[in-house]
Amino acid sequence: MSKVVNYGVISASGMASSHMQAISDNHQARLVAVCDLNLDKARAAAERFSVAGVYQDYQDLLQHEGLDAVVVATPDQQHKEMTINALRQGKHVLCEKPMALTLEDCKAMIEAERAGSAKLMIGQICRYTPGFVAAKKLIDRGEIGELFFVESEYAHDYSKIVGSPTVYHWRRDPLRHPFLGGGCHAVDLLRWIAGSPKTVSAFANRKVLKDMPTDDCTIAIYQFPNNVIGKVFVSIGCKRNYTMRSVFYGTQGTIIADNTTPSITVFKEGFAAQDSLMTDVSSYTVPVQLPVRLNNHNTTGEIADFTRSILEDTPVTTSSVEGASTVEACLGAVASAASGQPVNLSYQYD
Ligand SMILES: NC(=O)c1ccc[n+]([C@@H]2O[C@H](COP(=O)([O-])OP(=O)(O)OC[C@H]3O[C@@H](n4cnc5c(N)ncnc54)[C@H](O)[C@@H]3O)[C@@H](O)[C@H]2O)c1
Repeated sequence: MSKVVNYGVISASGMASSHMQAISDNHQARLVAVCDLNLDKARAAAERFSVAGVYQDYQDLLQHEGLDAVVVATPDQQHKEMTINALRQGKHVLCEKPMALTLEDCKAMIEAERAGSAKLMIGQICRYTPGFVAAKKLIDRGEIGELFFVESEYAHDYSKIVGSPTVYHWRRDPLRHPFLGGGCHAVDLLRWIAGSPKTVSAFANRKVLKDMPTDDCTIAIYQFPNNVIGKVFVSIGCKRNYTMRSVFYGTQGTIIADNTTPSITVFKEGFAAQDSLMTDVSSYTVPVQLPVRLNNHNTTGEIADFTRSILEDTPVTTSSVEGASTVEACLGAVASAASGQPVNLSYQYD
């Protein structure tokens, strides 16, 4: 392979546009082909990014001469088939989150990757969100002591995104439960910070988007390794601006971070208060605002990382097993809410 990775992007709208921009901006990557069922969209993207290869059928895109890698940014239902076919043809794959909608599909994707030599990475973009990256660095450095409670939320009003129930939208598929579709961001973030939870208990309701086929609000309590407790709240009907507000509680401090604020807040113990007005308090905790870049969808960082692992032949950052583990943790919560029983998570992918 040359010193540049030749990419094709499957889909020409939504998240795919962000990936195409990131590839175009990366000097070690080149966008050579784009495809969309809607050929007009594919043509418009090709013109915008000066791309020669324009296709309607992704199987034709996979034949594009010199193609090294693809980004699968189609609806979740299609991730499995496209990823497996691309891997079988030796193309490296960056597959959008969630990896797939069932654990069986994730396992088939892992099997296809193991059968060949091409790499598979799952686009869990929060691992590149500056505020979350900063929080993880501080936690890993021990700045807030030992974690005891972590929480994250995916609060997003989907009423405009999914449109009218009379018009098909792939996000209305009962298999595409919101706790998996969007909630996988929050679950993956906590798994990245605190490890893979072993047990989950969840509750759900549907009071806002009553025409959706699934509950629109879920709260899940996870038991993480080292006796860390975690909570994930997902709502796709909430009346507020989109946020992934997350809080990490340690024995010596607390961090509040999200993906829509240009700073994170760090509380650390030990500030002496003798000179303050609060003379009755011997010590208290001062919140410190650490500025971070605001970059909600950091595809630039994600594409740079994936490109580097292809060129240097190093393991990808978010492996297929990581992607599958997040899907398993999400589906466990959905199953728990449905049954009213706790669900154990096993992560068997061998
Ligand atoms: N990482 C993130 O933060 C993030 C954000 C939004 C969406 N996503 C994920 O990205 C994926 C796409 O979501 P979106 O919002 O961009 O969707 P979208 O509905 O806006 O766009 C999907 C595109 O795929 C095209 N398409 C559908 N089937 C196709 C096929 N067989 N061949 C070629 N093109 C096909 C459609 O014509 C459409 O242009 C989903 O998996 C979603 O979960 C991730």
